Amino acid sequence: MSQLIIRGGNPLSGEVTVQGAKNSVLPILAATLLNRGETVLRGCPRLRDVEASISILHHLGCQARWERDALVVNTADMERSEISDSLMREMRSSAIFLGAILARCGQADLSYPGGCELGPRPIDLHLSGLRDLGAEISEDGGMLHCRAAGMSGSDLLLSLPSVGATENLMLAACGAEGVTTISNAAREPEIVDLQNFLVTCGAEVEGAGSSTVTVRGGRQLHGCTYRVIPDRIVAATCLCAVASAGGSIYVRGAVEPHLATVTAALREAGCEIHSDAGGIACRSVHGLGAIRPVRTAPYPGFPTDAQAILMAALLRSRGTTVFEENIFISRYRHVDELTRMGALIRTAGRVAVVTGVERIHGAPVRATDLRGGAALCVAALAAEGESHISGLHHIDRGYEDLCGDLRNLGAQAARTEETEPIQE
Ligand code: UD1
Repeated sequence: MSQLIIRGGNPLSGEVTVQGAKNSVLPILAATLLNRGETVLRGCPRLRDVEASISILHHLGCQARWERDALVVNTADMERSEISDSLMREMRSSAIFLGAILARCGQADLSYPGGCELGPRPIDLHLSGLRDLGAEISEDGGMLHCRAAGMSGSDLLLSLPSVGATENLMLAACGAEGVTTISNAAREPEIVDLQNFLVTCGAEVEGAGSSTVTVRGGRQLHGCTYRVIPDRIVAATCLCAVASAGGSIYVRGAVEPHLATVTAALREAGCEIHSDAGGIACRSVHGLGAIRPVRTAPYPGFPTDAQAILMAALLRSRGTTVFEENIFISRYRHVDELTRMGALIRTAGRVAVVTGVERIHGAPVRATDLRGGAALCVAALAAEGESHISGLHHIDRGYEDLCGDLRNLGAQAARTEETEPIQE
């Protein structure tokens, strides 16, 4: 069983470069189906979820190969419009392929994505938007059968600003004749990145980053070379790591406007943060204080994906901080694990109250989801003694080499198949 072994107590120093954004790459890989040509995707992180997308592209008859940090995808020979249940289960966000396959082939058959470690993951908004564009969708035995002889542009209103639904509908709308407007669209930087990719391929899309995205569909798209934005949640993880461990680091590639609520929280807690065109510098030397309530919300609110890692950074803060999780139920599964390390956290429904303690200690803990796993690493950096973190397959979904990054910053961290302690 793979484990990450972290011995806490070392302050961090040095520089780390942020990988490309997972949540940009996944919809962009689905979007490559629309251009029927070659896409060179630079800065593409090598992650389990990216490999799962590559498996889906291969299954559909497309080619994909790595050239250093670039993934080269050619979708000219796509020959299938169906995705098997086992491939769909590899990655919960595979529903994003639905809009792209429909736009390209006029039909798609894939299994219904079920719940995930964060709770139920409904796609009702995706499906009702696709129906409004003219798709006929039937469900049978867990499979979705979608037919759209000719989709046409429409005015779509999302009842909540779902990231995945916004992306899926942007892709489907590229294949629909006429103008589609998506109102109450999600505003995340990754939506802007998807728009920029589509525009580079020749699509007419505008408004991403605001609540209304407009797509003029039916255009012939072409291949392109594109670089994805840096991963703001990985950047947030590095910032929370130094906040937790103490020290001073530079996070190259981090874009402060994408992270404004996270840096504001860390500043309030006592970190010194300065950003420039190349990244963000963060210094944490005096111990942290509690902060005002942290409420997760759609962008530009505080990201749900950073909730666990900020919580982990505040375990030894002076005072009490309240967290309110408003996006996903079941997103406090890391709390039990943090408690094993001596953290004092009470949860009630969507609220978690963190009372800072003087010291936390290493423990055997298990990652229960991607960001919850990263939170355990952030906490372990500040713990006395050794933490053995298992369940690394969750962390591998979103981090290329978290252990290596932390070690390069001076942490005592090792990844092992063994369960022996680190040799000193
Ligand atoms: C994306 C991100 C994920 C992040 C989340 C919220 C990717 C690959 N994943 O997930 O890391 O945590 O945004 O920022 O980009 N909902 C419905 N019906 C729908 C769709 C969503 O009820 O049809 C609900 C969900 O259950 C959830 C909320 O809307 O409670 C937000 O979900 P959504 O924004 O769609 O998240 P994802 O796109 O799945």
